[in-house]
Amino acid sequence: MKENVLKNIPLFADIKDEILEKIFDLVQKRVYKRNNIILMEEDAGDTLFILSKGSVKITRLSDDGREVILSILGDGDFFGEMSIFDGESRSANVIALEDSEVFILKRGDFLDLLEKHPKIAIALLQEMAVRLRRSDQQIEGLSLSDAENRIAMSIIRLAEDLGVIKMGQVIINNLPFQQDIANMAGTSRETVSRMLNALERKGLIQRKGRKLIITNYDEFVREFG
Ligand code: CMP
Repeated sequence: MKENVLKNIPLFADIKDEILEKIFDLVQKRVYKRNNIILMEEDAGDTLFILSKGSVKITRLSDDGREVILSILGDGDFFGEMSIFDGESRSANVIALEDSEVFILKRGDFLDLLEKHPKIAIALLQEMAVRLRRSDQQIEGLSLSDAENRIAMSIIRLAEDLGVIKMGQVIINNLPFQQDIANMAGTSRETVSRMLNALERKGLIQRKGRKLIITNYDEFVREFG
């Protein structure tokens, strides 16, 4: 059934099938290749995006032109809500980290859904609270810790955002490139490379191609979280 594709979206977790069917009629599907720009900072924005497949990075440019990664979003996450609510231009760039698929919903239709289905509004507020907490942690982390700790904290964020937990291990199947991790942690690619090698030597992580396994996630969080 066509509404099934919306079932795995956390925003619509408590919504009945017949309503999902109506929502499905409102959305437009779009696909992006890896590295495609989906949204540009300063663009006017009146659409909500729901990521049905893939992952994206949320970025801004620092004054000296470096990319700063504010967050990474994965399957089922939404973005573009900020401009809808405050009427300002897009607050950040959104770039596909891998081939991705999105559903796009117009501002008016989205606001209408929130009015008619408070459960969607509550799920949205919950997610926005999670994002604010993470941003608070990121601010604390950037100002307090050294580069190695910031890299470890970025790996924990990636595990939370993109990882799959299996018997105490966390597997991140499509690890972003080392330059992306560096841009999350505010450090250089070389430092990330050195740190990943050191973590691997200590047995805390394993790497196979683009896959990264955190061998014992609880221990990793205890050490760096
Ligand atoms: P909007 O400002 O419309 O366009 C850019 C989007 O990036 C924004 O809506 C949010 O959906 C998303 N975004 C901006 N900042 C963050 C952040 N710190 N964490 C997660 N998502 C963000």
